[in-house]
Amino acid sequence: MYKILILVLCFAPSAVAQQVHTVSSPGEINHITFELIDGKPFYSVDRLGQPVILRSALGFELSEADDLKDGFTLKNHEYSTFDETWTQVWGEKKHIRNHYNELRVELAEQSGDERELHIVFRAYDDGIAFRYEFPEQGNLSEILIEDELTEFALTDNHESWWIGAYQWNRFEYLTEYSHVSEMDTVHTPLTMRTADDVYLSFHEAALTDYSTMTLERTHDYTLKANLMPWADGILVRTEAPAVTPWRTLQIADRPGDLITSYLILNLNEPNKIEDTSWIEPSKYVGIWWEMHLDKSTWGPGENHGATTENAKRYIDFAAEHGFDHVLVEGWNPGWEGEWYADGVVFDFTRAYEDFDLDGVAQYALDSGVRLMGHHETSASVEHYEGQMHEAYALYERLGVRAVKTGYVGHGQEVFWTDEEGNRNYEWHHGQHMVLHHQRVVELAAQHKISLNVHEGVKDTGLRRTWPNLMTREVARGQEYNAWGENQGNPPDHTLLLPFTRNLSGPFDYTPGIVDLHFDQYRPDNRVNHTLAKELALYVVIFSPLNMAADLPENYEANPVPLQFIKDVPVDWYDTQVLDSSIGNYITIVRKDVNSDDWYLGSITNEQGRLLQTPLHFLDEGRRYIAKIYRDGDDAHWDHNPYEMVVEEIEVTSRTVLPLRLVAGGGQAIRFVAQD
Ligand code: NOJ
Repeated sequence: MYKILILVLCFAPSAVAQQVHTVSSPGEINHITFELIDGKPFYSVDRLGQPVILRSALGFELSEADDLKDGFTLKNHEYSTFDETWTQVWGEKKHIRNHYNELRVELAEQSGDERELHIVFRAYDDGIAFRYEFPEQGNLSEILIEDELTEFALTDNHESWWIGAYQWNRFEYLTEYSHVSEMDTVHTPLTMRTADDVYLSFHEAALTDYSTMTLERTHDYTLKANLMPWADGILVRTEAPAVTPWRTLQIADRPGDLITSYLILNLNEPNKIEDTSWIEPSKYVGIWWEMHLDKSTWGPGENHGATTENAKRYIDFAAEHGFDHVLVEGWNPGWEGEWYADGVVFDFTRAYEDFDLDGVAQYALDSGVRLMGHHETSASVEHYEGQMHEAYALYERLGVRAVKTGYVGHGQEVFWTDEEGNRNYEWHHGQHMVLHHQRVVELAAQHKISLNVHEGVKDTGLRRTWPNLMTREVARGQEYNAWGENQGNPPDHTLLLPFTRNLSGPFDYTPGIVDLHFDQYRPDNRVNHTLAKELALYVVIFSPLNMAADLPENYEANPVPLQFIKDVPVDWYDTQVLDSSIGNYITIVRKDVNSDDWYLGSITNEQGRLLQTPLHFLDEGRRYIAKIYRDGDDAHWDHNPYEMVVEEIEVTSRTVLPLRLVAGGGQAIRFVAQD
């Protein structure tokens, strides 16, 4: 299983001691090689005999201490193997196999303080991962990281899909496409395709007490870890013993296999919440889209959205149609001015006078519905932390089980006040914020509350450890269709998300807009695809808390699409990607966790297409009624987006279904299992 080589090379005038250890994935697909050359650590990766990552540097530069990057000897190394199948509380797949081979190398400085740095490598069949460990030791306690030297030396100028880092609007940009040579510093997940059609996704896992990693192109095709700094320039402050997040690389032959790789989750710690009965995958409606449309306002006044009366209207609608929560934004004082400029204006424990918080919460419970809480912090984290204990206790008392948080800012900064009373800034996804989000998720768990985080830190799989961290936005969601430039998200946006942002985890995209033009409110904007495609997003974009985002009156006028939105589950037994091409099209099928029914979502960019789709995922020998929501023959995302045909046909696993998608179109199908 393992290839172990210890070589002493004597080709140079002075002998260069080189230690080489390789760990291979269980199926002998991916191989990680560790090398210690002249006291410096390196690694490389190959897949089925082809190099994927060339020899790349490892190590750290530290502040107020010598660097940990060279002068090492290999004190010890150890191989192990792990194979376990674990069960998700909720997810895209119920049972997940975690099978890897591990190589742990223990490096010690040859002289001086003889400090130790350990590196753990894990080889999976769907990729590789490694992390650093700073073990407890006499000569290393406080660690101030000035630079993480981790490199990813690519083999060529691959095609890549990325979002630039250090931009004012954080992760809320359209995905860029270029060759590696045109990239500068980018966020992860970072997706690539090699000339041999191998697909790569670079990311990180288990980011709990460290700075977010972006990737910087340092030269040619070499990327290097670039960590979001603290305000004083230090990248990470920690203390031994400590571990870094995992640096991950998922590797696949088909782009869809990146989507069904669970490597990021596997690298996170198991669930820490014993009683998970209160964590409920569910759907919600809310006083939300109407503010984005400018139909009503967050702040008080004659168009205030969050009134008692309006909230009851949404609750009645939710109760009638089986939605579980009603989100109410704009319920608490602070929204009257420029709330996005500074969140110190917000009060999280008091409601506006025209919103009877206790009464509405009780009305919801009496109707079999719950309020979904809302905390917009405008990134004034210190201010929020001052109130959040009381605020979560209040919500728990009111029977609230899910809270949406928000960290809108006027840039990428988060505010805090120093001893002199000066307002200071931190990056939205530096270690300061990573720690904040960790405090919030643990506090929310104490109050039996699940989270839906907007403008937070990117997902690194923490939902495995904290399954109440259910979903997040942290990308460009539906709201851009209401007010974004160029009339909203272009038709290929949702064809890029599954292969980039969504590889990190669930996305509160807020689908379900059935009035695609909303001319009455915002005539310059619209949803840039067909109605059938909007429905298909419920299957394509996974979120265990998922919204039916449109206004109740629009659903009442459109009962046909509403039916699919009501039927589609949010928690899955299995997920398969049948066919896909990055930025062009994707067909995903998912099996309901609570029945034998399957659901299909297929969407395309501006190009129409016919996808012949074998239904081999269905149980063999079983009949299914396929309830199909497809683009009408003359539908078109631009000039005829509403034409949709709903039909029922009988199918089996031997059926090959022709999926006809018009330009900017899609198709959503429910396969109802027959006895
Ligand atoms: C931005 C969030 O993404 C959006 O959903 C929310 O309505 C506003 N902030 C206000 O909190």
